[in-house]
Amino acid sequence: MFSHCRSPGGQRQRCGTRLPVAAPNGAESWLVPTLRKDSMDLQLAGKTTFISGSTAGIGLAIARRLAEEGATVVVNGRTQARVDATLAAIRKAVPTARLDGVAADLGNAAGAQAAVRAVPQVDVLVNNLGIFAAQPFEAITDADWLHFFETNVLSGVRLARAWLPGMKARNWGRILFISSESALNIPAEMVHYGVTKTAQLAVARGLAESLAGTGITVNSILPGPTASEGVTRFVGELARQRGLTFAAMEQDFFKTARPSSLLHRFIQPEEVANLVAYVASPLSSATNGAALRVDGGVVRTIA
Ligand SMILES: NC(=O)c1ccc[n+]([C@@H]2O[C@H](COP(=O)([O-])OP(=O)(O)OC[C@H]3O[C@@H](n4cnc5c(N)ncnc54)[C@H](OP(=O)(O)O)[C@@H]3O)[C@@H](O)[C@H]2O)c1
Repeated sequence: MFSHCRSPGGQRQRCGTRLPVAAPNGAESWLVPTLRKDSMDLQLAGKTTFISGSTAGIGLAIARRLAEEGATVVVNGRTQARVDATLAAIRKAVPTARLDGVAADLGNAAGAQAAVRAVPQVDVLVNNLGIFAAQPFEAITDADWLHFFETNVLSGVRLARAWLPGMKARNWGRILFISSESALNIPAEMVHYGVTKTAQLAVARGLAESLAGTGITVNSILPGPTASEGVTRFVGELARQRGLTFAAMEQDFFKTARPSSLLHRFIQPEEVANLVAYVASPLSSATNGAALRVDGGVVRTIA
């Protein structure tokens, strides 16, 4: 997905990725600029990074981005087959990638323990795993609430708790929680999801407070509607039910469900990964305890 941005003569040149996203008027694709690879060293070489739920969507884009930066990347999903397929795909895109994989269901304590056993030391933890489902409030059972809390909140808490002592011993670390604009704009159609995303902000800020004065930072990232695997499947199904194309469904979604979006289109996972790569980097040392938006302007508050 990332184009090389050095011309054959070695000079810097503008680069970008043309994405298969319809513009609101359906006329042309959007040009999404990518980072110039020769313009900023994110100093991630030698860092071990773990990204929960990274065989697809935003997690996969983060894994690939961090691999491009020279970090050692540990990919996670629930099955060995999907983890292996992801490692092969990243290696194909980034032949120099330093990769490892852990198949573990992080929605329960045993899965978290297995991941920690497999990867004793982590420098950058990206708590990306998160599930969503549209459900009327009255239909959300206690079991649903507990399942969402355990998967979306406790998974990150467990991993942070396990890898924090090592980060403290080295006095360096990055912990990121992939929250959502839904943390601020609680969706009426999935209140339980919104609650877990707000809870992540509280956990991240509280943990950052507890680490004041150290070299470890903790931040939340708030993506807006992103064309990940899960969302593309969800929107595609809605489109089928209504007899619309994906592009027409996308236009309708931004007109009716997310009219405050300044992009008027889904964000691409790579656009979220670009912010994550910076926050994961040693260069972001003064960004701490923050809730950082990569939401296409969906949240209308200025600060
Ligand atoms: N997409 C959006 O519009 C959007 C917007 C804001 C925030 N976010 C947040 O971004 C994060 C990623 O969302 P996404 O849309 O990219 O997800 P996605 O496309 O649905 O991908 C889900 C990933 O999580 C893995 N996974 C699911 N359950 C797991 C479990 N119990 N243990 C380990 N891995 C598991 C899946 O791997 P396997 O199937 O291989 O297990 C897959 O790699 C979530 O926290 C979400 O809340 C998304």
